[in-house]
Amino acid sequence: MFDYYDLGSMMMMVTESLQLVVLLVCCLTIITINCANATQNPNIYSVNPTIVHSAVSKGAVCLDGSPPAYYFEPGFGDGAENWIVHLSGGAWCMNVTNCQERATSSNGSSKKMGQLNFQGIHSKNESQNPDFYNWNKVLVAYCDGGSFIGDSEYIDPTNNSTKNLQFRGQKIFYAVLEEVLEKGLKNAKNAILAGSSAGGYPAILYCDYFRDSLPIKSRVKCLVDSGYFVHFKNPVLERFWSWRYGGVAALQGAAKTLPKSCTSKMKAELVQTVPLLDCLYAENIQEYTKTPFFLYMSAFDNIETQYTLGDEKYTTIDEGKGSACLNASLREMRSDFLNAIPKGNDPKHRGVFIDAMHHHTSLISRWSFEVAIEINNVSAPIAFADWYFDRKYRYLIDEIHTMPIKNTFKNVTYVH
Ligand SMILES: *[C@@H]1O[C@H](CO)[C@@H](O)[C@H](O)[C@H]1NC(C)=O
Ligand SMILES: *[C@@H]1O[C@H](CO)[C@@H](O)[C@H](O)[C@H]1NC(C)=O
Ligand SMILES: *[C@@H]1O[C@H](CO)[C@@H](O)[C@H](O)[C@H]1NC(C)=O
Ligand SMILES: *[C@@H]1O[C@H](CO)[C@@H](O)[C@H](O)[C@H]1NC(C)=O
Ligand SMILES: *[C@@H]1O[C@H](CO)[C@@H](O)[C@H](O)[C@H]1NC(C)=O
Ligand SMILES: *[C@@H]1O[C@H](CO)[C@@H](O)[C@H](O)[C@H]1NC(C)=O
Ligand SMILES: *[C@@H]1O[C@H](CO)[C@@H](O)[C@H](O)[C@H]1NC(C)=O
Ligand SMILES: *[C@@H]1O[C@H](CO)[C@@H](O)[C@H](O)[C@H]1NC(C)=O
Repeated sequence: MFDYYDLGSMMMMVTESLQLVVLLVCCLTIITINCANATQNPNIYSVNPTIVHSAVSKGAVCLDGSPPAYYFEPGFGDGAENWIVHLSGGAWCMNVTNCQERATSSNGSSKKMGQLNFQGIHSKNESQNPDFYNWNKVLVAYCDGGSFIGDSEYIDPTNNSTKNLQFRGQKIFYAVLEEVLEKGLKNAKNAILAGSSAGGYPAILYCDYFRDSLPIKSRVKCLVDSGYFVHFKNPVLERFWSWRYGGVAALQGAAKTLPKSCTSKMKAELVQTVPLLDCLYAENIQEYTKTPFFLYMSAFDNIETQYTLGDEKYTTIDEGKGSACLNASLREMRSDFLNAIPKGNDPKHRGVFIDAMHHHTSLISRWSFEVAIEINNVSAPIAFADWYFDRKYRYLIDEIHTMPIKNTFKNVTYVH
């Protein structure tokens, strides 16, 4: 129904029989690899998953118990020592049934993961992606259902092991990072920990850990792409979020895994039958993060509006046909959001790019100059790169559009 790009959810739908074909094709490409590289489109190209088998002995597994995975494209030229590690998104699962379902898909099992298209910030075309085209690119697959935070499990009471669930996102993050560090990240000159959608929160949560894993002299910053969902003051706007995050916190054992700096201060409030842990909101952990991060998100993110106001309002909002009542809710949401994001007094440590388009995530689908979103004539990729490379500390909020702008570019895949 809605049209958004969720990393880790699309383009991974290779069936098991297809995987066999892919395997055979891979064998052939070993012989023809030079030819394949020469004809590869640098704007969009497919990458195979790397399965981290060694993670299993550390207890780092996907929902179904399979090993975690990441997608890797090596850097080249003077980008060979620069790394972007990108945490995929793909919503959350909130209850056992919901997670069991997810465990049978690429969102919950590496057995189901296939090739993924790299584009946008992963593009290797210099004119499309001038600042990052030749970096090492790592996309960490999201298969834990809980934003890489959990360390818990569900054991089926009838002893049917196919119904068991592993919530090991935190272990997955550490295990995959360890492997990538060994691959060369540990010697990085420049590095970014990025996260889109459900991957945005962990990009803040683990930002300091990531920083501390790299050489002191390296430039390390984090990038949150549409993953800063706020705790609305109004309980009517908040209700679906409390339900969602309450379920995630309970299943994932978040009270134990999230930093004490936050959990000791936040009292868990009882929402329906599960306690809501306020530390799942980025606004409540960002202050404990010392490493600089950049937030790129719309004040009218379409997942935010959809999850808050309901699916049926999507088109109405996109078309600018809201009732007075709906418009009041949108204004309230924008206001709460702007109050919850980092303040603008220290843009070196907290850069932002807050647009008003009714869209979700940008690093893949809106990173080329043709489709990039602008604020005051500054496009998002330039704003971020200026900030990252210490050229100009950007703190940009679209103050002109205080109501949603229709999402004019919805096609997630563009091929030049
Ligand atoms: C993964 O999750 C996303 C977001 O919930 C959903 O749109 C997508 O269909 C899921 N993918 C699979 C293969 O189930
Ligand atoms: C579990 O979550 C799914 C998906 O959001 C929802 O449709 C279902 O009603 C939930 N089930 C229970 C028992 O809460
Ligand atoms: C790289 O991107 C530019 C600008 O979009 C485009 O004109 C050019 O054809 C692309 N190069 C390749 C090799 O695809
Ligand atoms: C599950 O296994 C345990 C331990 O083997 C046993 O005590 C229990 O009765 C079993 N439960 C069911 C529902 O079979
Ligand atoms: C165990 O659960 C799976 C998945 O729900 C189901 O297909 C299977 O029939 C169950 N096995 C038994 C022995 O109940
Ligand atoms: C609600 O806001 C939209 C602009 O986003 C506007 O087109 C519409 O007329 C407004 N509705 C009312 C009832 O004022
Ligand atoms: C943006 O560019 C347009 C056209 O070049 C110009 O008219 C406008 O003044 C610029 N706006 C800002 C805020 O710089
Ligand atoms: C999106 O893709 C569809 C089908 O490929 C095409 O008809 C449509 O014009 C595209 N829209 C945009 C905005 O590129």
